[in-house]
Amino acid sequence: MGHNHNHKHQDIATEDKVIKEELQGDVFFKEQMLTNPNRNGKKFYIESYGCQMNFSDSEIVAAILSEVGFEPTRDIDQTDLILINTCSIREKAEETVRKRLQYFNSLKRHRPHLLVGVLGCMAERLKGAFLEQEKIVDMVLGPDAYRDLPRLVATAEDGDKGMNVFLSREETYADINPVRLGGNGISAFVTIMRGCDNMCSFCVVPFTRGRERSRDAFSILAECSELFANGYKEVTLLGQNVDSYKWDNPETNQKVDFADLLLMVADIHPDLRVRFTTSHPKDMTDKVLYAMSSRENICKYIHLPPQSGSSRILKKMNRTYDRAWYMERVEAVYRIIPDCVLSADIITGFCTETEEDHQETLEVMRLSNYYMSYMFYYSERPGTLAARKYADDVDMETKKRRLEEVIQLQNQLSLEHNRQEVGKIHKILVEKDSKRSDLELCGRNSQNKMVVFPRQEAKVGDYVWVKITDFSQGTLRGELVEKPV
Ligand code: SAH
Ligand code: SF4
Ligand code: F3S
Repeated sequence: MGHNHNHKHQDIATEDKVIKEELQGDVFFKEQMLTNPNRNGKKFYIESYGCQMNFSDSEIVAAILSEVGFEPTRDIDQTDLILINTCSIREKAEETVRKRLQYFNSLKRHRPHLLVGVLGCMAERLKGAFLEQEKIVDMVLGPDAYRDLPRLVATAEDGDKGMNVFLSREETYADINPVRLGGNGISAFVTIMRGCDNMCSFCVVPFTRGRERSRDAFSILAECSELFANGYKEVTLLGQNVDSYKWDNPETNQKVDFADLLLMVADIHPDLRVRFTTSHPKDMTDKVLYAMSSRENICKYIHLPPQSGSSRILKKMNRTYDRAWYMERVEAVYRIIPDCVLSADIITGFCTETEEDHQETLEVMRLSNYYMSYMFYYSERPGTLAARKYADDVDMETKKRRLEEVIQLQNQLSLEHNRQEVGKIHKILVEKDSKRSDLELCGRNSQNKMVVFPRQEAKVGDYVWVKITDFSQGTLRGELVEKPV
């Protein structure tokens, strides 16, 4: 159990899903910046919190700023402009941002010309309140307003504060070629749609990100092709609900749905892996599953959040499916793609949740056999349907105890999952040096399981074959073998 304990802490850290991104890949930046004809000698520093959409947006922001000559830096002491791309999903996520703002404030005291901008979901949710309460903030921009950043930076340089939190029905930043921040040069996120039209009663996203809209499929294909041409081997298509992607080709009047898009991206090249997130159980069709099974390079992994296993709670959550529907979708996944791996998001202690409801969630976890889950206790968000209609009536102790049980079960499921892999051979995309030793590399298999193996002749970006020899809850270890015939 001692060994499990460590993992528990790790899981609680990921539980918060609030990640701080340091800018990496300086070499890549430098190349890009030295050739930037617009350089103005000024630098920006950006930190991102929240979901992958936010990380992807920060790359769009970097592109917009580089157009007007700003250079990215990961050194906060050398920057002219600090941007923080924020998340509102849970109260804790907002607290983290507030703490960072206090820190930025302390920097600003000694550097009067330093500018601070708040971007993303919290900017959208709190709007002008930021400028009033957090006096150090110079600009506030919502997720659809990033094209306005250069103007607001110029305004701030003149000493005036500015805000743009306009939510658009059209903006997809389709024409902007993101400046890849961080990352390994192998794997990139590509946003295919923005906003969300679902109204899950617990969720702020529809308020912070606005209406759902799909991006032009040709611009997605162009971006993915260019990534592949630049050495990338994996793209992850992003949206809050990718299964409702829809786009009309204006030239042919053809309708492109998510399954069609997946095939189009997969057919760029067999060596370009395609992943996606998030799938909504109500919209995930068999057509998507058949598309996945028809291409080796569409990864056999689906993030399919149930949120709860109780039909009564699902109804209150306004997820628009019940337990039976969810389990039918899970069965379809395993029937159509037998080697597929599933992961989940789970909320414990939602309004009125009883012990029986909670047991049903545990049951759905067992039946679905998730490889991993992001697990949270319910955090009431101002303005949401649930906040307006239901009392947040499960006490904190119960929420946390149920969360702990969910985490314990997930740990068992993950360990069992990995135990089954011993002796099997997997195709791995080499992603980076292993954290523990420079004699080792790591990468994931199609099912998104992380595998560590001796470096030998392998290089980052290669596909290699690894036979699994050992496992823990979070990783597999193995040895390089010849490609099986
Ligand atoms: N579009 C995705 C979810 C995006 S938000 C989907 O529908 O699955 C990521 C996760 O945060 C959600 O799946 C949910 O599990 C969690 N979450 C959202 N709002 C929350 C809240 N108010 N309290 C706790 N967890 C929440
Ligand atoms: Fe939030 Fe639901 Fe939309 Fe996901 S589908 S972003 S949980 S409203
Ligand atoms: Fe957070 Fe906004 Fe994403 S609220 S989870 S950053 S869409």
